[in-house]
Amino acid sequence: MDILTLARIQFGMTTVFHFLFVPLSIGLGLAVAIMETLYVIKKDEIYKDMTKFWGKIFLLSFAVGVVTGIIQEFQFGMNWSEYSRFMGDIFGAPLAVEALLAFFLESTFIGLWAFTWDKVKPRTHAIFMWLVAIGSALSALWILAANSFMQHPVSYTINPETNRAEMDSFFGLLQNPQLWLEFPHVILGAFTTGAFVIVGISAMNLRKKRNIEFNRKSMKLGAILGTIFAIATMGVGHQQMIALATDQPMKFAAMEAMYDDLEDGSWTAVAFPDTENKDAGFEIKVPKLMSLLMGDDGNTTYKGMNTLDKELVEKYKGEHDIASFYVPVKTLFWSFRFMAGFGSVMAIVGLLVLFFLRNDKIMNMGWALFGTSLMALAPFIANTSGWLITELGRFPWTVYGLFTIADSVSPNVTANQLLFSNIVYFLLFALMGTVLVKMILRENKKGPYYVDPDAANNEIDPLAKEEF
Ligand code: HEM
Repeated sequence: MDILTLARIQFGMTTVFHFLFVPLSIGLGLAVAIMETLYVIKKDEIYKDMTKFWGKIFLLSFAVGVVTGIIQEFQFGMNWSEYSRFMGDIFGAPLAVEALLAFFLESTFIGLWAFTWDKVKPRTHAIFMWLVAIGSALSALWILAANSFMQHPVSYTINPETNRAEMDSFFGLLQNPQLWLEFPHVILGAFTTGAFVIVGISAMNLRKKRNIEFNRKSMKLGAILGTIFAIATMGVGHQQMIALATDQPMKFAAMEAMYDDLEDGSWTAVAFPDTENKDAGFEIKVPKLMSLLMGDDGNTTYKGMNTLDKELVEKYKGEHDIASFYVPVKTLFWSFRFMAGFGSVMAIVGLLVLFFLRNDKIMNMGWALFGTSLMALAPFIANTSGWLITELGRFPWTVYGLFTIADSVSPNVTANQLLFSNIVYFLLFALMGTVLVKMILRENKKGPYYVDPDAANNEIDPLAKEEF
């Protein structure tokens, strides 16, 4: 395998793996803050138990998220030095602000929250968790400001002497219209993830008749949050799709498997594209649905990939000389259907759970609880599919229209080094993933009311006077 392919595999692997834990910790952080607020308002001990239990799962996912994030940054430096040289002036600022403001805020208050149970007033303790949740949302904002620039560059000048992109204005970066679609979509997707993990784990426990009242309340709260957030995520996703049709038409056409121009406003539900012959292959179409979804007048033409490829080759001739602008159409087409499909399934299941929780009917529906427990996986599939679309769909660019993937790779990294680091990272990820899942399952088995028999002897209070 060549250097570029190995570097791309490493980017894909680290990104997908990192983004399993990021939305989980962001989503659980918000859910835990809401649980603790309910405890402060209602003074019902069960909300305190919920805060403590789901807070433990949150802390575990946060820890793995941080470690995988470090590997992510490391692979940028190692494999994509030319990209870093080109983008450093732009990428550096939001990442520095992310580390200095958002991540420090998050980590400081996580520490305070974890070690001050019963030492500060419940209201103050709940505020700590809200600051953690706000910190993690701000983290996402800065990272996505950088990612949005890669999808839709704004507020920059190319320095012809250094061939680097230089930032015109920091606030200009924040006014990127791509950011104000990408950020709400990702953050709402993350909130959905935390909520459905709570729903799934609670359903699994209810099926095994463990801590009925605790899991019933957890599942209800998870289902309320999950349903609202899944619907909101889909609402923003819909706006993203409309924006893509003009911003990145090749990505849009691939998501719809449109090789030829679309003139009849139909929407393709199923397709098996023939990438060799550049043909849509077998398709099942729903008449007029595309027009309806896009809100057009029914006479709009959407350019297909064959037209767009010719236009783009012509547009960038001499400047970049790229032979083909086709993106991985099968992956984009099916990823989009997985993302939107699982989004819809989550919203429907959330509503069904709430319906059958009335009169506790769901408690005796073992098969329904089993199905609901599987929903813990759904947001991860939707998130991963979303990133596959976003990142693979901007091929052949790292920075859309400005800098190509082929130009971005480090000139001095070797195929053997990349192969070695790919194997090491894969093993590390597999190990971390297994350990995290095992630890979550162990905590879950112990349950919210477990009392460690040695706790009295082992308890260390890092905030006690003697520790200073
Ligand atoms: C009808 C439902 C949905 C639609 C129409 C939709 C639409 C989109 C579109 C068009 C993109 C690509 C944006 C770009 O490249 O500029 C995207 C990306 C993404 N989607 Fe969705 N989405 C939906 C549901 C979901 C759900 C339920 C989740 C997660 C729970 C999700 C998570 C993501 C993520 C993480 C990305 C990558 C980041 C981004 O580009 O915003 N999506 N989605």
